[in-house]
Amino acid sequence: MSSGVSPRGSSSTVAVVGGGVIGLSCAWRAASAGFTVTVYDPAPGSGASHVAAGMLAPVTEAVPVEPEVFALGAASLRRWPDFAAELASAGADPRLRTGGTLAVALDPGDRAELDRIAEQLSRMGRAVEALSGRQVRRVEPSLGPQVCQALSVPGDLSVDNRALLNALLAACRGAGVQFRAQHCRQLPSADVVILAAGAHSAALHPTLHRAIRPVKGEILRLRCRPGTLPPPSRTVRAIVGGRRSYLVPRDGGRLVLGATQREVGFDTDVTPGGVRELLTDAERALPALAEYALEEAVAGLRPGSPDNLPVIGELEPGVLAATGHHRHGILLAPLTAEAVLALLRGEAVPGVVGPAAPARLACGPPVSGDTSDHSYRHSRVARSAP
Ligand code: GLY
Repeated sequence: MSSGVSPRGSSSTVAVVGGGVIGLSCAWRAASAGFTVTVYDPAPGSGASHVAAGMLAPVTEAVPVEPEVFALGAASLRRWPDFAAELASAGADPRLRTGGTLAVALDPGDRAELDRIAEQLSRMGRAVEALSGRQVRRVEPSLGPQVCQALSVPGDLSVDNRALLNALLAACRGAGVQFRAQHCRQLPSADVVILAAGAHSAALHPTLHRAIRPVKGEILRLRCRPGTLPPPSRTVRAIVGGRRSYLVPRDGGRLVLGATQREVGFDTDVTPGGVRELLTDAERALPALAEYALEEAVAGLRPGSPDNLPVIGELEPGVLAATGHHRHGILLAPLTAEAVLALLRGEAVPGVVGPAAPARLACGPPVSGDTSDHSYRHSRVARSAP
């Protein structure tokens, strides 16, 4: 895909609206390349990226199959080890975990679903190893007796999302990024503006207005206590009565349990129903969970798009989108930042990013259940010429 953006000198000013994982990754890469970068966010490093579980899991997220979403995820995952290593030297260690992922089933219906997943993955050329309940408990003793089958997916990884955000903030500061604790209701003045405001991006540009919607996700954070079995060392994705949940380990005997998925506008309340659903399913896979300490219950807003693909590319001269990453913001951060830097430089972006171009939104169907904030007014302030 060619960029369509005029090449810009690295002395150009860049305003990044949104200080989540996507905005910070773009800001870091742009500032490291010599651009003068300001991030606008009232609380950088908060929002959906702070709530996330940090899975880097294109394979186990790939069912039902969405080939373009999968291709983006796989391409970004390949960049993750270098991205994490560079961050560790530029800022702090984002704690990439390379232990892999297990998908587990609990009853005959779930087992059939797991078989379907294995079949689809093998059709996609992703061989996965099937394990019996006994075999999987040998590698992860905290999994309960109801777990009757599993798939081992060693390539699906995870990262500590909060360590990642701290690392990105430090790397941004080290690269000279300026921060303005400001909520943008209109586009700031700069040679190039990058819209990376997640679920709030819809309010900032007409192309995004009906395309990006909030998709609420509730998660729980738990810690094992003395006398309880420690959490699994791998990410566990459980299919329980047809519902899917995930348990993502953290250092210190902690884990993140997620996530509900609800289309309820900009609501970030945690509900008893959401908590009950998460705990009921997870306890069947990991019985010791009932005795863990519940440290946090929190909800975030995924930025959904009509086709579940992100929106990465030029919205108009001088305005780039890096938003709409839905369930994949953490996974897609390295690839998105690489594509945005290419666009800033007027270079070609990686071909795999082509389907994410904003042009597809111009004639697409309106997003279902349009719950976006309708306060948008396109009052762009004067911007210096490219
Ligand atoms: N990335 C998983 C989720 O959004 O729930």
